[in-house]
Amino acid sequence: MKRRHFLGASAAALASPFAAPALAAGTAWQRPAAYGDHAALQPLRGLQGQDLACDSASIEGRLPNDLRGTLYRNGPALFERAGRRYDRWFDGDGLVQAWRFDGGGRVSHRGRFVQTAKFQAEQAAGEFLLPAFGTAIAARRPVRGPDDLNVANTSVLPLPDRLLALWEGGSAYALDRDTLATRGLVRWSDELAGMPFSAHPKVEPDGTVWNFGTGMGKMVLYQLSSAGELKRHAVFDMPPCAMVHDFVVTQRYLAFLLPPLTLDMDAVRAGGSFAGSMRWQAPGQSQATRVLVIDKADFERRRVFETPAEMVFHFANAWDDGDLLTLDYVRSPEAPVGEQRLRSIVHGDFRGSPSSQPALLRLNLRNGQQRSDLGRDALEFPRVDPRVVGRRHRVVFYPAALSPGHEQRFGHDAVLRLDREIGQRDAFIFGPDAVVEEHVFVPKPGSTREGEGWLVGAGYDLRWRTSFASVFDAEHLSDGPLAVARLPYAVPHAFHGQFAAA
Ligand SMILES: [Fe+2]
Repeated sequence: MKRRHFLGASAAALASPFAAPALAAGTAWQRPAAYGDHAALQPLRGLQGQDLACDSASIEGRLPNDLRGTLYRNGPALFERAGRRYDRWFDGDGLVQAWRFDGGGRVSHRGRFVQTAKFQAEQAAGEFLLPAFGTAIAARRPVRGPDDLNVANTSVLPLPDRLLALWEGGSAYALDRDTLATRGLVRWSDELAGMPFSAHPKVEPDGTVWNFGTGMGKMVLYQLSSAGELKRHAVFDMPPCAMVHDFVVTQRYLAFLLPPLTLDMDAVRAGGSFAGSMRWQAPGQSQATRVLVIDKADFERRRVFETPAEMVFHFANAWDDGDLLTLDYVRSPEAPVGEQRLRSIVHGDFRGSPSSQPALLRLNLRNGQQRSDLGRDALEFPRVDPRVVGRRHRVVFYPAALSPGHEQRFGHDAVLRLDREIGQRDAFIFGPDAVVEEHVFVPKPGSTREGEGWLVGAGYDLRWRTSFASVFDAEHLSDGPLAVARLPYAVPHAFHGQFAAA
């Protein structure tokens, strides 16, 4: 049997070990007309705050013996309390997951909610007490700063002695790497207490960690050692932009794309949510997306360029070559469209979902000249081999929507590898019964070539209403997964993850 048929052909034999999904029941839920049943919606219903545990996932195929370590993932997972449902998918409280690959053919899974101050207070009360980024809820507890609203739901950063759960609006939460128990907020220094630490830190091949945070018109930069100690930081006024999600490092620079997004404070004061009060190209504001380029050796050396207005959430990578800066990223629908999409998703309506495309921007730092290329594939969540972060790369991996009619359904149904150098594509389409999440690249031990390793990520199977992890040979995606590890339950869709080798 060819591996490409693996997932479909073997599913029927696996029906019996799978119990009903352990998801919230009895909550108010609008059944969307677009779907004949609830299968696609299970992960979006969310959990009620309970932990998840599976000591031994059901394995199809053969796991590589030298794939040892943990795929940590994080995502919003609690969306309803006392009959009230959040308006935005990304408002949910963070559930950190650990998929552990033991190298002996076994995979275990754990999921635990980050015990943020907000989560603990609302869990005890049994109802929402605080506003979320995308849902206006009148505060019934003091809001002294962003961390009172912190949901720690976006990504993770494994450090030698702890795992960080990240949310772009506030501090990182430290967790135990083994048990996922929450230790508390991270305070890098007295001056930086409570400052945002974004969910997209970049780790260079030598282990150096770079990150940023934005809020109240300021940007914070962080440089950490591979052990997670603060080495340098800076706080400065930034060009206007209401939301900065991701950035890139090169050997010499830190680079940001700042879309023309503003926050309408009148709308916020009138009771609107922060997300719902974002404005695209507000009158009198810049019609451009700004490129902020900062010298890594001297944070005071900052330059700003302008490109035609566009929205970006995620970067794959970037590199500098003399005065030429190349940014590899995903261009997203402009804010109002994307915002409406996020609002629709959480209420179970996926129709007409706009897609995001791969994009390359080449910028001459000497004269500001630029060239932009846009691909056609519908995709998101780009990842590169961690050995090329900040260096010229060749290969980018994405979950993508490649089946016909994908506009009418939620999420991605394939994994895609784009080779930038020769323009080659390699993909595996799971088909319409799967929602494919971000897949991360894991280098093969002992290998040195970019792209030699595995692609490891998660997904959701609509037929069995259960979640799975898949492992591919990253150089042969179209052959299908080497192995699929299935859980006896569904897990809410996560945003981002990182693999920590054992
Ligand atoms: Fe993200």
